[in-house]
Amino acid sequence: MLLSLAPMEGVTGSVFRRVHAVCFGALDRCYTPFVAPPRVGSAFGGKAMKELDPERNAGLDVVPQLLTKDADEFAWAAELLAEMGYREVNLNLGCPSGTVVAKGRDSGLLRDPAALDALLGDVCARSPIPVSVKTRLGIAGDAEYERLLEAFCHHPLAELIVHPRVRQDFYKGVPRQAAYGETLARAPFPVAYNGDIFSPDDLRSLVEAYPATRHVMLGRGIVANPALGRMLRGGQPATLAELRRFHDELFHAYEAEIGGNAVFRMKEWWSYAEGNFADPLAVRRAIRKVRKANEYEAAIARVFLQVPLAAR
Ligand SMILES: Cc1cc2nc3c(=O)[nH]c(=O)nc-3n(C[C@H](O)[C@H](O)[C@H](O)COP(=O)(O)O)c2cc1C
Repeated sequence: MLLSLAPMEGVTGSVFRRVHAVCFGALDRCYTPFVAPPRVGSAFGGKAMKELDPERNAGLDVVPQLLTKDADEFAWAAELLAEMGYREVNLNLGCPSGTVVAKGRDSGLLRDPAALDALLGDVCARSPIPVSVKTRLGIAGDAEYERLLEAFCHHPLAELIVHPRVRQDFYKGVPRQAAYGETLARAPFPVAYNGDIFSPDDLRSLVEAYPATRHVMLGRGIVANPALGRMLRGGQPATLAELRRFHDELFHAYEAEIGGNAVFRMKEWWSYAEGNFADPLAVRRAIRKVRKANEYEAAIARVFLQVPLAAR
């Protein structure tokens, strides 16, 4: 079973995947949070290069993800990525990330299967490296997926990663795994599953229902519990010492990268990770008002000393 790290803007960037690999071993593959392609003829900008710089991704199998509906920009970016040594490029469809929606950067392609079909034809023909796609089932209703799936099946995708919710679900309700099963049965290319895998039981029931499952992408589950990959392979949950080390490495790596803003990045991580502790509310209270790095470190030291881990 191939296990990969999901793209999560502001969360699973180059710092997170490097620290995670050092502390818990590399997952089989990592996807970068989406980057916008540069204008044709230009190079990737500074923020994108932090994600894409091969040196920062050394030792990891990284697949860059692009967010665009422009075939020329996609093809140009794919050329740049191929020159950097990447062997696959992923197209993000319908990510409901706050910044994407707020800045109107959503590609809109989930709304328009004909435009999607045309774009995929174009980019698959022109990209020098294989193209994979990450999708939801549609915008508002599951019925939209039939036409999208038909469009996907016309093209030689490297892989289709399915998060079986619609965009309007955000993360509410449960993923409709049957739509993933339908994709597995019909697609002429490899298919991956993504959505709500938080424990070995979640993976077990997915694989029982869909034994052909070969690739599972992990997002919030592994951000919250960095030992999740190990547990899915039959290993032990994280000890307190392992969590502490992971936390410290992550914080210091963010400090080196973004200085004082590291505290805010870590607070976002805690919003996923507080559930590792028996009293998540105590964790939240401890860090809520903290702004400065030294206050943050003191608050976290108390959490690790005083709040026991939740049973797993
Ligand atoms: C904060 C946040 C940022 C995300 N950013 C991206 C992104 O850049 N590209 C993308 O395709 N999906 C993005 N997603 C969606 C995740 O990759 C994934 O599909 C989703 O979290 C469901 O998987 P999970 O249940 O394992 O978390 C994001 C999700 C979250 C919560």
